[in-house]
Amino acid sequence: MRRFQGLTPLIVVDGPAASGKSTLARRLAEILDIPFISTGAMYRAVTLTAMRRKVRMTDHRALVGIARHLRLKFTGGKWPAPMKIMCEGRDILREIESPEISRNTSTYIANVPEVRSAIVEATRNHLTSRGLVAEGRDCGSVIFPAAPWKFFMSSSFQSRAHRRWIDLRKAGHQVSLKSLLDDMERRDREDRTRPKGALLAMPDAWMVDNSNLEQVETLGLMLRRIDPDAVV
Ligand code: DC
Repeated sequence: MRRFQGLTPLIVVDGPAASGKSTLARRLAEILDIPFISTGAMYRAVTLTAMRRKVRMTDHRALVGIARHLRLKFTGGKWPAPMKIMCEGRDILREIESPEISRNTSTYIANVPEVRSAIVEATRNHLTSRGLVAEGRDCGSVIFPAAPWKFFMSSSFQSRAHRRWIDLRKAGHQVSLKSLLDDMERRDREDRTRPKGALLAMPDAWMVDNSNLEQVETLGLMLRRIDPDAVV
């Protein structure tokens, strides 16, 4: 079992939409060889499953049932091979990134308290003695408040919009720049003002502004924070 600075590597990565947190968190998990979980993907998977089953976004009972039975598996090809997020035998990674799923997740699913509780519990159950890299909004504040390493990624609105634009196009989703900017503004607002699990940088989180950093530079900073002896 690997330990860093004498501690089990429980590492949380939070930050706003398109701040690069998912890629950085996953890459960190690969380099350190510890399991990874994306809570955003879990909320998105609840939305996807509900849409497939034609469940209304306001049917809380059905949504909670889906969240409680959700079984996601995060499997990685080695970087840069894309990660797979397996749900009911299918890789849903691309599907859950669609603008419609982003919208429904932010406006409906992430606001249902019992869905939140189910995802908080499922995320905590992923922590073993090997440690965990957990990525998503309330990982540092609600799910693992005592995590020894907390990173809060930030990035200018412009850099985030640019990143989102490239990601969506790569994934084959066609969107106009205007709708992308409108969507991001709305999501930022909803994420900040959510009554539970709002986007919030914890006072003990290490703030990383990566607006002007290459991914590899940001990773180097994070790795050195976890393991000051790391050769990066
Ligand atoms: O990180 P993301 O963009 O994949 O998250 C999708 C949505 O889910 C986003 O609107 C915020 C919400 N979310 C949340 O409320 N709590 C989390 N721990 C993770 C995501």
